[in-house]
Parts: sequence; structure tokens; C-alpha cells
Amino acid sequence: MEPFSFTISGIAYQLHELPAADRTLLDAAKAMTANAYAPYSQFHVGAALRLANGKVVEGSNQENAAYPSGLCAERVAIFAASSQYPGMTVEAMAIAVSTKKFDVIEPLSPCGSCRQVLMEYRHRQQSPMRIMLSGTGDTVWVFEDVSALLPFAFNADGLKNRDKA
Ligand code: THU
Repeated sequence: MEPFSFTISGIAYQLHELPAADRTLLDAAKAMTANAYAPYSQFHVGAALRLANGKVVEGSNQENAAYPSGLCAERVAIFAASSQYPGMTVEAMAIAVSTKKFDVIEPLSPCGSCRQVLMEYRHRQQSPMRIMLSGTGDTVWVFEDVSALLPFAFNADGLKNRDKA
């Protein structure tokens, strides 16, 4: 018997310390929070991603009276990107949250389903996908690669029979 663990490591920046390209993407994500359709949670999430062809694709959370039919901002953005530019590498994604109900000072993690979906594209593109997370405060958490956010992830390799000779 032997204990084992997974760790998550990133870098905490203050807004003014962010490299210019990251700041531009984060500003786009923050602006996107205004486009959320979130009458039920009043929790506004914006996502902006930059593709290898330089295009920026954005999304915001879209809710529904039948609650599970809604979709998170991250998936709205990455599904739109994959639809418009199929197979194009996602270099970076910025995610911003806000609500009028209280201050979301610290960054929040994308939900498990979104992290799983981001990892699908990460696995497909075989290159890092930089992630920036921010609330309404000055702190921005940066992860060099989305895989840091989902250790021990399931991916398409798990569907293959690796025991076969
Ligand atoms: N939400 C996102 O857009 N992204 C996440 O990663 C977590 C949650 C949305 C879904 C729902 O519209 C609202 O935030 C409250 O859960």
C-alpha cells in the first residue's frame, strides 16, 4: 500500500501584472459576462478563447426554465469555436464571473463538466491550453495548461482496450 496524490499548481497574478495578450482576452471575458442570460441564478459567466489563427471566440452562460437545458459559458464558447473553426488549436481561454448578489472576489473554478469538455479539445490538439480565471477582484489565476485543472482526467484513450496484445 502506498499513498499517492495529484496537485494543482498555477500562478496568481494581479491584473496589472498580466501579459498584454492575456489581459486582452480577460477583458473580453469580463465584457461577455454582460451577455449572460441568467435570470435564474443571476450568476454571470463570460468566456473568451484565442485560437491559433488569432480569432477570439466568446461565450456566456445561457440558462433555461428547464434548468439542466442551460449551458455554461465555457462550453458555449468552445463549442462555438469548434463549430466555426473545426480542429483549430485553442491557445488560451479566459473565464470571468460576476453577480449582482454579492462580490465574487476570488476566481472560481469551471464546473466539472466544463473541465471535462475543455480536456476533450486539449487531448485532441495535443498542445497546452492556457487558462485564466478571474472574479471581480484583482487576482487572476493562470494555469499554463487546462490539464492542471483536471488531474486524472478521462479521455478517449480510456475507450481503447489497452490490454489487447
Ligand atoms: N456556470 C458557468 O457558466 N460556468 C461554470 O463553470 C459554472 C457555472 C453557470 C451555469 C449557470 O448558468 C450559473 O453559472 C450558475 O451555476
